[in-house]
Amino acid sequence: MTAVGIDAIEIRTGKLQLDLPNTFAPRKGEDPEKYTKGLGLETSSFPDVYEDIVTMGANAAKRLLDRKGIEPDEIGRIDVATESAFDHSKPVSTYIAGCLEQVYDGDFRHANKGERKFACVSGTQAIDDAYNWIRAGRNRGRAALVIATDTALYERGDPGEATQGAGAVAMLVTEDPSIVELSTDQGYGSMDETDFLKPNQQFPSVDGKRSMQVYLARMREALEDYESVAGAVEPDTVAYAPFHTPFPGMVRKAGLFAYRHITRNTPVEDELADAIGRQPREADYESREAYEEAISEYMDALKGTDRYQGWYADTIEPTLELSRVVGNWYTGSVHLARASALRHAVERGLDEEFVGERLLVGSYGSGAQAEIHSETVQPGWREEIEALDVDEQLASRYDLSFEEYTQVHEVHDYDKSVDVEAFTAPDGEFVFTGWGRMNERT
Ligand code: HMG
Repeated sequence: MTAVGIDAIEIRTGKLQLDLPNTFAPRKGEDPEKYTKGLGLETSSFPDVYEDIVTMGANAAKRLLDRKGIEPDEIGRIDVATESAFDHSKPVSTYIAGCLEQVYDGDFRHANKGERKFACVSGTQAIDDAYNWIRAGRNRGRAALVIATDTALYERGDPGEATQGAGAVAMLVTEDPSIVELSTDQGYGSMDETDFLKPNQQFPSVDGKRSMQVYLARMREALEDYESVAGAVEPDTVAYAPFHTPFPGMVRKAGLFAYRHITRNTPVEDELADAIGRQPREADYESREAYEEAISEYMDALKGTDRYQGWYADTIEPTLELSRVVGNWYTGSVHLARASALRHAVERGLDEEFVGERLLVGSYGSGAQAEIHSETVQPGWREEIEALDVDEQLASRYDLSFEEYTQVHEVHDYDKSVDVEAFTAPDGEFVFTGWGRMNERT
């Protein structure tokens, strides 16, 4: 069977940044370490006044098509995953295609365009749709362009405010991909939940603490479902485990949950038993509460072991590097985590020996659904990852003062929509120039 997967990636960050420990924390009267150590965040990305989900997505897609030398005729499908859409009818992919058609000779009339919604997991769902379309043989040799783009803003004063971010990840899904092949095995955990939702409102209503429990519960179910088709996951067979990263502190918890889960009934559990005992079995406890208490104690002990800390440092920590400096990008977040992991592999000097290695990808969206699947690294991975210009983009972000941050927040609040001067100058890119005239390029 021909491999199908991700052939190329481009990342586009919002051009502004908010320094959480030095600018945000003092004005909130909070200890900076709550952000850096607790949540695991340094800075958040924000869109300048002429950026939005369309411009960030279109700019990422343009660089991707240019770099790969791809013409519109070679793209058969454009799917945008977002939870920041401003149009209840026209999908954001039509706005993005409109931008791209200004700069290419061809057009995307032949391309099937859509918008995928299921909170943050929809970026992965759009990739799954593209995979299925290619596997079904309906792509006529064409590639799918998948763009995950969001401005993840919360109401001012909401506890989620510290986790904000904005950016887009564009991905090309093809046969014989250069970066990763997607496996056919997937596992899901899905349930109607109301801890994070945006019913006809721009900013989410969030029960932050509950949202963390729901994330972990759905991830556990997805892992169980995945193992039922793919077999048990041996921790040492996973090179990296990129998870949806609303903030790195969440993935610190998810990593521990996942490790506990995948090591039960394995030689790793036997190896750890002398030091921390065996994992609690539900059948040995009189109530669910007593069992959960025992699990919690086991995980506290597990967290302190060299075995777990080594696995976390090698497999999870490297996936958090970009998230730490950009915040939550909602639909793009897990795809940034994958990119962080692969950048880490480049830094380690890996090349051909990394081909065939496995990524265990955990996607999650509030509302709520988790998906676990695995991916296999392909021979062109290093060249593709080295082509990313994300370091340059991050280094050139404008550093907002707190007052400027409050203005930027209002610019991107549809209810307020204040007029504020741009902080940076557009440079050969798509810019937002006002409703009805929004597909312009400077
Ligand atoms: P909070 O209540 O302000 O923070 O907001 P906290 O008091 O819980 O502190 C956060 C962490 O910092 C804690 O760590 C503290 O101990 C630690 P933990 O105990 O959990 O390991 N801390 C400190 N550490 C060192 N020095 C200090 C210090 N002070 C505190 N001085 C909350 C946290 C997550 C609730 C908030 O940010 C929030 O509401 N975020 C938005 C919701 C969210 O991100 N949920 C995550 C799961 S749901 C999800 O991922 C889906 C999502 O992406 C949306 C989608 O799918 O579309 C959100």
